[in-house]
Amino acid sequence: MSTSTQHTNDTNSNSRHDNDEISVHLCEDNVGRHASHTDLIIATLPKSGTIWLKALAFAIINRSHYPSSSSSSENYHQHPLLTISPRDLVPFVDFKQLYPDNRLLDFTKNSTNHDSPCRLIATHVPYPSLPESIKITATNCKIVYLCRNPQDNFSSLWLFMNKARAMPMLNNNNASLSMDEAFDYFCDGVQEFGPYWDHVLGYWKESIKNPDKVLFDKYENLKKEPKTQTKRIAEFTGCGFSSEEENQGVVEDISSLCSFENLKNLDVNKNGTWRGTIQNKEFFRKGEVGDWKNYLTPIMIKTLDGLMKEKLHGSGLVF
Ligand code: A3P
Repeated sequence: MSTSTQHTNDTNSNSRHDNDEISVHLCEDNVGRHASHTDLIIATLPKSGTIWLKALAFAIINRSHYPSSSSSSENYHQHPLLTISPRDLVPFVDFKQLYPDNRLLDFTKNSTNHDSPCRLIATHVPYPSLPESIKITATNCKIVYLCRNPQDNFSSLWLFMNKARAMPMLNNNNASLSMDEAFDYFCDGVQEFGPYWDHVLGYWKESIKNPDKVLFDKYENLKKEPKTQTKRIAEFTGCGFSSEEENQGVVEDISSLCSFENLKNLDVNKNGTWRGTIQNKEFFRKGEVGDWKNYLTPIMIKTLDGLMKEKLHGSGLVF
């Protein structure tokens, strides 16, 4: 039996949960919500492909309940990713104000009706600020971190934030920031959950120190080799694909289900609105590597190159 089948069919995982649960307050406001051994934490900086990783993790973890292809099963049409935004399937713990109707989120079901083998929880919080008990190696909960090259991360963030600023529902209603202004902020480390380099380095260093605890992946790698990276994430989470699954094309099915083109064109992601605030389509813009070339000036490129060389120097992390 493959690791994956063992994991997904492990009916003892709940008792393991009950007996052994580590009480962890995910953040101070979340009293009553605890991380447990089987939790999978999805960590990113905003605009690094969070929604993509959420979709992939959900599809991987829940594949025994929800097959990812119509050719392999009729149940495909009930796949939650076809009708629910990945943002809702894998909630953030960071944005209490965005969940006024449900302050105590029920992470145990990840918005579906079956008992998920593990809870999927998303965060943008930098590694050093995570609750201690998530970080300790004695807790089996794992973290998958997805980072994106700084140029694309910045461009995507700038474009997105200017849309968000204009939204009355978010009470921002601020004038848009010029690219020059936004760039200066980025380089000064002034951004939500930033600075960029501290965020990526925090998870990078931890992934080297504790490779069983933190998996560090790059948006660019996922784009280049979706199948290999999907397998890597699955193996890391203890849900590796069996050879039978591989022969049946399950890895490709999951990659296709979660591909930009597929997710972007689903009705929920095209026409839905996320919690009455922002349209889901804003999270599916271009989904490309290197789109920054259409925005950054030569001076900005040089400045960012120099800054990253300085900040990442000696870490082994390169883009
Ligand atoms: P762009 O603005 O460059 O298009 P986040 O989810 O962290 O907010 O990241 C959003 C970015 O990821 C956007 O980048 C979005 O288009 C891209 N994205 C969303 N879904 C994707 C997918 N399935 N594959 C690749 N990129 C995706």
